[in-house]
Amino acid sequence: MKLAKETRKRKSDHIKISLNQNVQARKTTTGFEDIHFVHKALPEIVKQKIDLSTTVFDHKFATPLIVGAITGGTMEATKINATIAKAVEKLGLGMGVGSQRAAIEDKKLEKTFTVARKKAPTAFLIANIGGVQLVNGYDVKEVKKAIEMIEADAIAIHLNPLQEAVQPEGQTNFQGVLEKIGEISRELDKPVIVKETGAGIAAEDAKKLENVCVEGIDVSGAGGTSWAAVEYYRAKNRGNSFQRRLGDVFWDWGIPTAISIVEVSQTENIPIIASGGIRDGVEMAKALALGASLTSLSQPVLQVAIKGVKETKDVLSLLIEELKTSMFLVGADSVQALQETPIVVVGETAEWLRMRKFNVDGYARRGRS
Ligand SMILES: Cc1cc2nc3c(=O)[nH]c(=O)nc-3n(C[C@H](O)[C@H](O)[C@H](O)COP(=O)(O)O)c2cc1C
Repeated sequence: MKLAKETRKRKSDHIKISLNQNVQARKTTTGFEDIHFVHKALPEIVKQKIDLSTTVFDHKFATPLIVGAITGGTMEATKINATIAKAVEKLGLGMGVGSQRAAIEDKKLEKTFTVARKKAPTAFLIANIGGVQLVNGYDVKEVKKAIEMIEADAIAIHLNPLQEAVQPEGQTNFQGVLEKIGEISRELDKPVIVKETGAGIAAEDAKKLENVCVEGIDVSGAGGTSWAAVEYYRAKNRGNSFQRRLGDVFWDWGIPTAISIVEVSQTENIPIIASGGIRDGVEMAKALALGASLTSLSQPVLQVAIKGVKETKDVLSLLIEELKTSMFLVGADSVQALQETPIVVVGETAEWLRMRKFNVDGYARRGRS
C-alpha cells in the first residue's frame, strides 16, 4: 500500500507540473518543420467529401487520431479520464489511459481507470503498463488485469528509460525487458503496442520488437513533452540539486518524432502511432505521409481536459479540421491517398536520415514515374 501511495503522489506531481510548468523540449524539435507538402493548386476533390476514416488493429477510427496515455490512479485523474473518454467517444477516436500500476497495486483506484470504458463504450481504448515493471515482478497476470480493468482493445507497454534514469526513485534495471515483452505478446489475444514516452524509437529497436511479435509501435519521439523536464521540476521543488542537474542536461534527449517515424516505417510493416510534440493537424498529416497509421497527442489534451468535455471536443475537432484542410490542399481524399502523397524532406532531418541510410528522396518522387 505504501508503494501505491507513492505512485499516486508521483502521478499527481506529474499532472501538476505538466499543467503549470513549461515541460516541452527546449532545443530539440520534432523535425516536422523539415517536412514539406507539395501544394496542389488543382486538388480536383471536394473538401466536404474527404474521408478521414481508417481501420487499424481491426478497428474503424473516424479519424486517425487517439489521445495518448496521460493518467489514472488519482482522484483528479478520474475526471480527466472521464472527460477525454466522452470526447473521443463522440468523435469516434481512440484513447490510451495512463499507467495502471497504481490500480494493480490498490484495487480502490480501479475506478479512476474503469471510468474510461464507462464513458466510451465503443471507442478504441488502450491499457497501459510499464516495460520496467515486467522485469521487476509483473507478468501476464498483471497485464491481463490491466486489459480487463478497462475492457481494452489493446495494451501499450511503455518504455521510459530516460525518465527512470533521471528520477530519484527510478527503476533502472531494464535487462530482459524485450524477452518479457515477447512472452506477453505471444500469450495475449489483444494487440501489444510498445510505446516510448518522448524519446523516440530507433530502427534497430523496432526490428527487435517486431521479431518478438509486437503488433504496433507508438514512437513518442522527442520535440514535445520532455520527461526529463518533468523530473527537473520535481527535483527543483524538493531542493534536490543533483537530480535537477540530470533533468536539465537530458531535457532534450531523444530521437525527433519525424525521424523516429521514418526509422520505424522503413524498417517494419506493423502499424505506427505517431506521437511526441504533434501540435496541429498539419503535423498530423505530415506524420501520416511519413508512414504512420495513427497520430496521437497527450499534453495539449490534458490542458483542455481539465476545463471540460466541450473544450476537449473543440480542440480535437479543430485538429481534425486542420488535418482535413491539409488533405484538401494536397488533393488527398482518403487517408491512404495522403499516405501516398509526395513530401519533401529537408534540413537536419534529411541529413540524419541519409546518414542512417534511409531512403529520403523516394518521398519526393511519389506519384511520378
Ligand atoms: C501528465 C502526463 C502523464 C503521462 N503518463 C504516461 C503514462 O502513464 N504512460 C505512458 O505510456 N505515457 C505517459 N505519458 C506520455 C504520453 O503518452 C506521450 O508519449 C508524451 O507525453 C509525448 O506526447 P506529447 O508531446 O503530445 O505530450 C504521459 C504524458 C503526460 C503529459
